[in-house]
Parts: sequence; structure tokens; C-alpha cells
Amino acid sequence: MAEQEYTIGEKTIVLEGTKKIPIYIMGKRYEVLEGLTIMKALEFAGYQIKRGCGCRAGICGACATVYRLKDDYRLRFGLACQTTVEPEMYLTQIPFVPANKTTYNMDEITPDVSTIEKLYPETFRCLACNTCTKACPMEIPVMDYIQALMRGDIAKAAELSHSCIMCGMCSMRCPAEIQHFHVAMLARRLYGKYVQPKAEHLAKRVEQIKAGKFDWMLDELESLSDEELRQRYKDREWEPEPYDPAWKPQDTKYLILE
Ligand code: FES
Repeated sequence: MAEQEYTIGEKTIVLEGTKKIPIYIMGKRYEVLEGLTIMKALEFAGYQIKRGCGCRAGICGACATVYRLKDDYRLRFGLACQTTVEPEMYLTQIPFVPANKTTYNMDEITPDVSTIEKLYPETFRCLACNTCTKACPMEIPVMDYIQALMRGDIAKAAELSHSCIMCGMCSMRCPAEIQHFHVAMLARRLYGKYVQPKAEHLAKRVEQIKAGKFDWMLDELESLSDEELRQRYKDREWEPEPYDPAWKPQDTKYLILE
């Protein structure tokens, strides 16, 4: 195949000699370019993803996908925007599965097990089968955070579930119909509001903002034209990578520490 570009979704450069491999989408065989993500392979095969295509960057969880490989009994899970196609991959697009989502007032709940019992009682049906963990495309120890919540360990559950992208694969596979991703969100909210130490410097900065200490910067930005704003963005100073705590910007005009 001659070198070429195609521009469905993000631009993809196809290198000369790229092979085509067979995959199955809802049972129908297609030949797609090796190295494409599942999402791009769907588009290459002619599908148009009009709704629910999400961020295409592994962040939003809208593209969770289930698949099997030839002669392998296991169900596999991945994000369609991140997982690359493999020969003889059998893809099945699963429609959205509704999950019970409780509403609550954060000012009226407490960071302990009684809140979990009241708002998400099905959490305690956990059989520790670990199916949820195996289904997670983010490799989160889902069962472990559910077990932490059953012990009332909000901090542990918040920490373990930190990378959750709310795709719902855990709930879809759970034989006990637990709403893992929603109860984990509750844990992180409880942790943020009641458990983690307060950031004093952040509280101070919020007070400064309320007192109008930064208004002149906003006024300055608002007075700039689009072109000037773009240039300002392009010219901005970058922190070094890896971060050096001794680093300071050359232009300290906007550096308000006190
Ligand atoms: S589209 Fe957002 S995670 Fe894949």
C-alpha cells in the first residue's frame, strides 16, 4: 500500500507496507489496517460514530468495548479509543446499561459506612468474585474498593478508585448489580469534603480572588484582541519537565504569592 493519509477522526499517518487484518464487527468480517484503534477501525470499516464517541483520548469512558479473540473463551475489555485491533478480534458494541444513581445532599451525609448502607445498599451484596476488576479497562482494583467501602474505609475507596472514568463496565458485569462507579464517586466526594486535610493555601487563594486581588489580570485579558490572546498563549512560559521546585518564571508580574 502506498503511503497515504486519511482523516476520519484524528489524522492518522498510514505507513507504507501497513497490513490489513481481519476483524469481526457484530459478526460481520472486515479487513482493517493493522495498528488502528478499535474506534478508528470501526470508522475505517465504514461506520460513522455520531453519538457517544466521547473524547477519543482515554478520559471520558464513553467507548468501553467488549471483545473476544479467536479460540479464546475469555471476554476482554478495553477502551475503543485506546485499544488497538488484533487479527480475528470479535467486537460487540454493547448499548448503554442504566445504573441506579442516587441523589444526595453532601451537607447532610457523613463519611462512614452508614451513608453507603443508606444510599447504595446493593454494595453489600458483593460476593468478592472480582469480575468487576477483570472488566475494568483502567485496571482499577474495583473489588478492593468495594470491600473498603463495606468496611467504611472511605479514604481507601477514594484512593483506589481515583482513575475511574465511569465507563460502567464493572456494573455491567457484576452478578450482584452493584453500581461500583457511582458509589466510588460518592466515596471521592465524601473524601474531598470531609476526610482529606484542608489545603490552607487554596483557601487563602480563594479569599484573595473574592477580594478582587486578581481582577486587574482579568481586565487585562478582556481588553486583548483574539490575535493578542493567541500570541499570549503561544508565548507563555512553561514549567520545566521534570518539575524543578526552584523554578520561577522570568516574568514575575503575574506571580502573586501573598
Ligand atoms: S472516547 Fe473517551 S475514553 Fe474513549
